[in-house]
Order: sequence, then C-alpha cells, then structure tokens
Amino acid sequence: MSDQTKVAIITGGSRGIGAAIAETMAQAGFDVLINYVSNQAQAESVRQAVTASGRRAVIFQGNVAVPAEVSAMFDYAEQSLGKVHTVINSAGMLKTLPLLEHSDELFARTFAINTQGSFNVMREAGKRLIDGGRIIMLSTTAIRMKMPGYAIYNASKAAVEALVATFAKELRGRAITVNAVAPGPVATELFFNGKSEQLIAQLANQPPLGRLGQPQDIAGVVCFLASEQSGWINGQVLCANGGVA
Ligand SMILES: NC(=O)c1ccc[n+]([C@@H]2O[C@H](COP(=O)([O-])OP(=O)(O)OC[C@H]3O[C@@H](n4cnc5c(N)ncnc54)[C@H](OP(=O)(O)O)[C@@H]3O)[C@@H](O)[C@H]2O)c1
Repeated sequence: MSDQTKVAIITGGSRGIGAAIAETMAQAGFDVLINYVSNQAQAESVRQAVTASGRRAVIFQGNVAVPAEVSAMFDYAEQSLGKVHTVINSAGMLKTLPLLEHSDELFARTFAINTQGSFNVMREAGKRLIDGGRIIMLSTTAIRMKMPGYAIYNASKAAVEALVATFAKELRGRAITVNAVAPGPVATELFFNGKSEQLIAQLANQPPLGRLGQPQDIAGVVCFLASEQSGWINGQVLCANGGVA
C-alpha cells in the first residue's frame, strides 16, 4: 500500500445508498471496507465491482448496533487495508407506522440500529481515524417533511444530527470533520418497502425536480464530503433531496 492510499469504511455498503457510496468512493481512489449485516452475496457483488475498478476492497459482516462488532470492523479494516481516513455510516432501517401503533420492540430496534449504531460508529471512528479524516453519517430529509408514520424514525435520526453537531466540536485539534447527509426519498428497498404504488408516485412528485433520488445522487454528495475540497464543512447537515424541503 502506498502512503497516499486512503481507506474508507462504509457501513450498510451491501445495498442501496451504501453500495453506491462504496463504488463511488473507490472511483475517487479509496480502498474500501464494505460492511453488511445479513446479505453476504450482495456485499460480495459490491466488492467485485470495486476491485474491477482497480481498488482494494474487503467485506465485513457486523451489526452496527453492537459496539464490539463495530470495534472488530475497524480492526479488520486496519489489518487488511491500513489506517482508516473516512467512515460513512449508511447502515439504517425504516419502518413507517403511526406512533400509536409502535411497539416497544420496534422503537428499541429503530433506535438500536439508527441511533446507537451511529453513536457506536462515531465513537470508534473518533478513536481510530487518522488526523485529517472524515466522519459522515446518514440522516434524513424526512425530519423536515414531518410526514405521518415517520415519528420514531425521524426521532432516531434527529438524535444523529445532534451527535454530529457536537462531536464535530469535540474533535478540535484533529482536523477531522464530522457531517451528516440528509437524503430525500431515494429509490432503494428501504424506501419502497410497505408503500403503495400511489404513495410512491406521490412522493416522487413532491420534489420540484419531479423524481425520486437515485443512490448515485447521494453517493456524489458523500464523496464530496470525503474529499479535500470539503475541508471547511464541519458539523453540518447537508440535504440532498431535489428541493423537497
Ligand atoms: N432510501 C431513502 O429514501 C433514504 C432517505 C433518507 C435517508 N436514508 C438513510 O440512508 C441510509 C441507507 O438507506 P438505504 O435506502 O440505502 O437502505 P437499504 O437499501 O435498506 O440498505 C440498508 C443497508 O444497511 C445495512 N444494515 C441494516 N441494518 C444494519 C445493521 N444493524 N448493521 C449493519 N448494517 C445494517 C443493510 O445490510 P444487509 O444488506 O446485510 O441487510 C444494507 O446494506 C439509511 O441510514 C437510511 O435511513 C434513506
């Protein structure tokens, strides 16, 4: 490995937005660890796409909600690729349901993956990243749209935005930036699951650009935040949503 090689970890890199991020980061010159929780075959297919583009890539099975698994993920990245420059936390889950219908179990699972998972990744990144590195978390524009059914999911992501804003200040002296990207509706399994065709068409029409986002729309923004050009952006939430909110 050359001294200039940069290494990135992408959680939730097997599918959807995370998979597009992994491939875009590789095109930008990063070697990547692709994290997944259950879909090994899809993680492997992203790994093959990355290696075909000339970068090194490894896959790692681990649940972001479990601190020891996040720590082991960093161990594996360092052993197989080298010290980590950028961490992107795209792992997440969404189950839309009115607040009154949420079970204790669903509330706990949403916060375990979306909020504690983000905390686990940020805390480990703060310990392990090289100075000058980048921490990028996925939030959501849904917080700003206030749609019925999204209360618990939005709360789990609003907490991530609060963590980002403060953690950016706590890392003073390390030249590490901490930011969030807040996508609008993006055409992935997470978005399509449980929605009628009518609701999907309605949501696709809401942004003035008149379409759903594609994973690549978000990957480009994340890749910019990982680049040298974004060095003065810190503690921010960057909305990429076609102008919907
Ligand atoms: N799609 C949208 O409209 C949208 C809008 C705003 C924000 N977001 C946010 O963007 C992020 C990516 O969403 P997406 O649409 O790409 O979702 P997706 O297509 O459902 O993919 C989710 C990814 O997260 C992984 N994952 C789930 N739980 C995990 C866990 N506990 N530990 C590690 N990995 C886990 C999945 O791994 P497996 O493949 O192994 O299951 C998969 O790679 C999420 O944080 C989501 O909240 C999405």
